[in-house]
Amino acid sequence: MSLVIALDGPSGSGKSTVGRHLARVHGLGYLDTGAMFRAAAWYCHDRGIDLTDADAVTAAVAALPLEQDLDPDSTRVAVDGVDVTDAIRTTEISTHVSKVATNLGVRAELKARQRAIIAREATADGWSGGRGIVAEGRDITTVVAPDADVRVLLVARAEARLARRALELHGTADAGAIEATRDQVLRRDADDSTVSQFHAAADGVVTLDSSHLSLPETLAAAERIVAEQRP
Ligand code: DC
Repeated sequence: MSLVIALDGPSGSGKSTVGRHLARVHGLGYLDTGAMFRAAAWYCHDRGIDLTDADAVTAAVAALPLEQDLDPDSTRVAVDGVDVTDAIRTTEISTHVSKVATNLGVRAELKARQRAIIAREATADGWSGGRGIVAEGRDITTVVAPDADVRVLLVARAEARLARRALELHGTADAGAIEATRDQVLRRDADDSTVSQFHAAADGVVTLDSSHLSLPETLAAAERIVAEQRP
């Protein structure tokens, strides 16, 4: 079996950056499970389905024709042959995705798909010849892949996450940009907390707090955790 790394954390904790980095360093595939929830939300919205209609959303997502690159350098996502890589990152989708992500039918469907992808990539006949995988999201260390070789919970204080998001979205982390970002980050924390709690890591999960670390320091700390935890 190849190396499987599970990585969880709230929005703005840097888990995508850390996840892609670990995948590159160790030659692993990379699965962004948040992109799956975003694609599900895009698909339902595109089909005019009311996102609060749990049964209609569950039925639609059961048939979601999703294609996703498992490559840290190409995170292309397509739905029914349409490239939605950028469309799933709009503020509109970010605002509405938690309605889909808190739907238990959707969670069950996507969990099954995530487990199938991880199992396939962890074995020699996988898409990538079984090179192993980094899977990142909110419930990977606890629900989707509790048996992963390495499990990391990446956390950062709200102020640090706000500053990073502001920089990403507005190109600056001055007071105005932070205010403009505050509602998005904190409201999403609250919405997502119905699915996952980040106050403490589950048993066997290593917490990495990046609040006071630079990006290179965070990446180095993540590498150390992998070196210590991998079988
Ligand atoms: O990480 P992200 O912002 O791309 O996640 C998008 C949404 O999906 C967000 O509402 C959290 C949710 N999500 C989830 O519930 N479980 C996961 N494993 C990954 C993401």
